[in-house]
Amino acid sequence: MGAGKTTMGRDLGARLGREFIDLDQLIEATEETTIAELFSSRGEGAFRELEERHAREVLQRRAPLVLALGGGALGSEATRALLREYAFTILLDIEPAEAWQRVGGSGRPLARDRESFESLYAARRTRYEEAADARADDLDGAILAAAGVHVENGSLEQLGTLVPGDGPVELVVDATVNGIHGVDVQLALGARDVAVHEVPAGEEAKTTTSLDRLWRALRIGRDGTIVAVGGGSTTDVAGFAAATYMRGVTWTAVPTTLVGQVDAAIGGKTAIDLPEGKNLIGSFHWPARVVADPRLLETLPERELANGRAEVVKTGLLSGQELWERPLAEQVRSCAAFKAALCLQDPDDRGPRTQLNLGHTFAHALEAAAGFDLAHGEAVALGLLAATRLSARHLGLEPAACDEVERMLRPTPVKVDRDAAWAALARDKKALAGTPRLVLLKAPGRPVWGVELPPDDVRAALDELIA
Ligand SMILES: NC(=O)c1ccc[n+]([C@@H]2O[C@H](COP(=O)([O-])OP(=O)(O)OC[C@H]3O[C@@H](n4cnc5c(N)ncnc54)[C@H](O)[C@@H]3O)[C@@H](O)[C@H]2O)c1
Repeated sequence: MGAGKTTMGRDLGARLGREFIDLDQLIEATEETTIAELFSSRGEGAFRELEERHAREVLQRRAPLVLALGGGALGSEATRALLREYAFTILLDIEPAEAWQRVGGSGRPLARDRESFESLYAARRTRYEEAADARADDLDGAILAAAGVHVENGSLEQLGTLVPGDGPVELVVDATVNGIHGVDVQLALGARDVAVHEVPAGEEAKTTTSLDRLWRALRIGRDGTIVAVGGGSTTDVAGFAAATYMRGVTWTAVPTTLVGQVDAAIGGKTAIDLPEGKNLIGSFHWPARVVADPRLLETLPERELANGRAEVVKTGLLSGQELWERPLAEQVRSCAAFKAALCLQDPDDRGPRTQLNLGHTFAHALEAAAGFDLAHGEAVALGLLAATRLSARHLGLEPAACDEVERMLRPTPVKVDRDAAWAALARDKKALAGTPRLVLLKAPGRPVWGVELPPDDVRAALDELIA
């Protein structure tokens, strides 16, 4: 009571694209009276029966929705059983004193005096904790919990408890990262850690040779877990190994780059490269958990940080918030939550998740034309510049957004073959019959996708990125 579940539930529903139901409001609407009136006319016992009946009806729909459940509802064993079976339950953490400030004097039947309010809270507390699959105290926290993403400075130390289950763990770790953080990772995992597999540092990890070596070295059974420690290259190959080894085992991602923490480790896409193209072989296989410790970024070289910064600016433009102005750990948390919400909403990447490609159509074209001898962050920075310029020209985006991209990322035109870049753009996965379909912005926070513009205008924007 007073934890803010109605406000948070409504916001969570909006972020996840799911219906939101507040059980109290549902009861008031169907009974055509207020909760206070129900309490006084029929008594608490009768209200609890009603509450249990409505909770059962909503939970048994088994639909993807967000349900705000009053604290008293957990008094019912039947409701607790339904939650265990059908729901992911998040406990909204709040201090009783703060809750009282919000609801004291509000006329709610169980918030008439502070002493009984606080003792009710204390009495219910254990039940809340037992029923909760996770806790949160803000919207991003609830989204991250629902997506199994844990972002916290120093979380590496808690890895042993954060990796779900209690079965054996095989580590797959980037060779460079192993040299820097390997001992800490193994200490944190303790006795669960039964083997360590090094993969080559960076993109080299994503070859068929590296994957083949990994498949053949793995020993865990279906009860085991793969823990991937490294940047997007490591989580991509280890995640794909987890998707395919013994027809699929669970895995946990421990991203150690900014790209990994804000992007690659979230959303379940895994892949390896072929000589014919990047990420050509892969699958969707969500990690059971993502453990992002922003402190690990302290050892990341500047060039790699810059790659991640481009994704942070992208996420800031999509969300309409200047995320890049926040301290690094907060950037990670907000970006991870933004991506997690889109991926929960659209796990197969057929709808709103597409917006995450902002700037990437141009970036991929430049990378292909450069024979992949171009840092991904530089390519994305240029891509964001083209996307914001086209948005300003065609959709009325304020040019300030282009200035912000220039200020934050300093994109510099690259020397590549113009025709090769244009040909690569027309071949993009999202192109329709050779016409690129772009993600653009009407305003920061208002993305549109599937936009087709006159080819000459798109080509001009691409040409402006080429020295
Ligand atoms: N699956 C997805 O949704 C997704 C999304 C974005 C990118 N990706 C993939 O991610 C890959 C790029 O990943 P990345 O940018 O994270 O880089 P990376 O994994 O290629 O690593 C880059 C370099 O940083 C080093 N490194 C990593 N962590 C370090 C640390 N904490 N300290 C010091 N050095 C460290 C590595 O050894 C490597 O040399 C690409 O293959 C891309 O396709 C996947």
